[in-house]
Amino acid sequence: MLSYRHSYHAGNHADVLKHIVLVEILEHLTKKNKPFDYIDTHAGAGLYNLQNTHATKLKEYEGGIAKLKPAEWPELQKYLSIVEQYNPHSALQYYPGSPLFALNYMRGKDRSWLYELHPNDYLLLENNTAKMKSVRVMQTDGFKGLLSLLPPASKRALVLIDPSYEIKTDYQLVVDTLISAYKKFPTAVYALWYPVVDRKQIDALQRGFIRSGMKNVQQYELAIATDQYGTGMSASGMIVINPPWTLMDKLQLVLPKLVEQLGGEGAFFKNDQLVGE
Ligand SMILES: C[S@@+](CC[C@H](N)C(=O)[O-])C[C@H]1O[C@@H](n2cnc3c(N)ncnc32)[C@H](O)[C@@H]1O
Repeated sequence: MLSYRHSYHAGNHADVLKHIVLVEILEHLTKKNKPFDYIDTHAGAGLYNLQNTHATKLKEYEGGIAKLKPAEWPELQKYLSIVEQYNPHSALQYYPGSPLFALNYMRGKDRSWLYELHPNDYLLLENNTAKMKSVRVMQTDGFKGLLSLLPPASKRALVLIDPSYEIKTDYQLVVDTLISAYKKFPTAVYALWYPVVDRKQIDALQRGFIRSGMKNVQQYELAIATDQYGTGMSASGMIVINPPWTLMDKLQLVLPKLVEQLGGEGAFFKNDQLVGE
């Protein structure tokens, strides 16, 4: 039984990085009129109340979204305006999860596939997306679900893989799943989130992609402290396969400023072309 609940962590520095990358990709994909499929293999609950007992226990959002003031961040206007939509009375109370960021961009012709295994979060996700069209919410394994959907009829897709890594084999499973997905459908935009709790795991993850035969793989990382071991997550990152050409420039602009605003001593960032085009 999985025990991870994203409601304890919503809006933290890792969510900020993940959702900035997600929004930038969605901006790019929706510039074209052609339909696309959004596949979220680990969707979470969809919307998080930052004033409930889960979020206020750790108050991780205070080191993330709560620090980003729209007036200081013209570069993040799109991302912050979506957060604002869920907080119409200006005080920060709700933080949207990846499905709601994506659904903000979905047009009538686009389709969304959301996977969530946790029974409570699955029900919340169903509720939080009930009024939206062309959305399918499934309480089944997202890794397997993804492979069953590829290639999509639209021939365009954005895939977000955002596990909690509660099961240590997930570090290898994400690489294996992405290799299989890429073989079935090499032109999708694939975005994978990872936490840095033990740098050796991420070194192995990177090697997995470098050896995979995939082309055009970028890596972005936001570290709020120097690497540590045994004291939790000091950084998180995104691996993006087939990124939009705008992504590197955007992150180059935003990451140093995020490090300054969200990071402590020893904070740093990475924006690397891990595998060339
Ligand atoms: C990090 S959270 C997702 C957060 C969400 N993507 C967001 O950005 O708002 C990971 C979620 O994956 C769910 N989960 C874990 N293993 C899964 C699996 N194999 N398939 C589908 N969901 C899974 C967990 O219950 C948890 O809610």
